[in-house]
Amino acid sequence: MNANRPMAFVADENLLDDLLKLAAAAGCDLERVPDATAARLRWSTAPLVLLDAVGAAECESHALPRREGIVVVATDPEPPALWKQAMGVGAERLITLPGAEPWLVSALADAAEGPASNAGKVLAVLGARGGAGASVFAAAVSLTALKAGDNSLLIDCDPRGGGLDVVLGAEGDEGLRWPDMQLSAGRVAASSLHMALPTRRRGNARLTLLSGARKGEGPAPDAVAAVIEAGRRAGEVVVCDVPRQLEAAAWPAVDRADLTVIVTPAELRACLTAKQLADELTARGANPRLLVRGPSPGGLRLTEIADSIGIPLLATMRPEPHVAESLERGDFHPRHKGPLSLAARATLAELAAQPPKTRRPPDNDEQAA
Ligand SMILES: Nc1ncnc2c1ncn2[C@@H]1O[C@H](COP(=O)(O)OP(=O)(O)OP(=O)(O)O)[C@@H](O)[C@H]1O
Ligand SMILES: [Mg+2]
Repeated sequence: MNANRPMAFVADENLLDDLLKLAAAAGCDLERVPDATAARLRWSTAPLVLLDAVGAAECESHALPRREGIVVVATDPEPPALWKQAMGVGAERLITLPGAEPWLVSALADAAEGPASNAGKVLAVLGARGGAGASVFAAAVSLTALKAGDNSLLIDCDPRGGGLDVVLGAEGDEGLRWPDMQLSAGRVAASSLHMALPTRRRGNARLTLLSGARKGEGPAPDAVAAVIEAGRRAGEVVVCDVPRQLEAAAWPAVDRADLTVIVTPAELRACLTAKQLADELTARGANPRLLVRGPSPGGLRLTEIADSIGIPLLATMRPEPHVAESLERGDFHPRHKGPLSLAARATLAELAAQPPKTRRPPDNDEQAA
């Protein structure tokens, strides 16, 4: 039996029919259970549990233990006392149909994609000055993850960064960019992103790119949050290229990041900005690390720079040979054992070593219960 099957204990046949259709739309197989005894067998393993009023009351009266991912579903108009039953069974949310279909389809698709215990990690990369090398480094980390066989989601959070598709040589690729994204439900399934966005493949691994498009507004903060959470739920290495001006779209990435890296060239003014940025990020609760990019025109020693900025040094990096030319040609790849690859691998190792985040940022991106 597929452990990723969401479970439904729904007595209302019409509602169950609707749920089965929505599950089919999400590409997922919904397991129907007829009573609380059957529900108990799948209670601890089903990634998502859908209950109607009868299901919620039965599960409560059989004292099924608390768990995450319980959703109580009602048909409009919602019965007046239903929220009490939802609370009684420990539901995360109460939704009504029609209305909540987009949210539910995404939640079902996410549940079918994989268990939350495989949750991915989120990296935020910021540059201490324009041209610091943050976007190139963010792309290098995602490409290095791909090479290592890991799925990666590379998100361009910088509306004026020129577009990460250009860095990957993917500006001609079909697929959506930020201005095309409609995330009105505030939640998106990773499978939808894989279908809609430009991707790079290597073996079974996939890099999915959500790039800016050099036009329009930058992404809305809720949309950035929804995309990051989709990647995290799907167990991907989520890499966010974050603008150092820390505008609105930057915070969802910083707040969700398991690791934040400031890329600074080894120059005095960039280092002063790196210090200012580090202070702002630390005040927000982030734990930033430094990546110092040489050469140092003024002879500053790369390790001393980190000491003066006062945050842990993640790596130092010599210039990557021929990077400007390969970017122009659209065939950028960090060289195996080159400076970018080494720094990217150190970053991925540090990211993997981070404990799972316990504090979730405010959930303004999802429909409230
Ligand atoms: N590791 C590197 N080694 C050598 N040159 C690099 C490296 N990273 C970036 N560069 C050069 O610096 C340029 C700017 O890099 P990048 O676009 O990554 O900077 P950024 O910090 O993202 O700047 P922006 O402020 O525009 O977002 C690149 O086009 C490339 O020529
Ligand atoms: Mg950039």
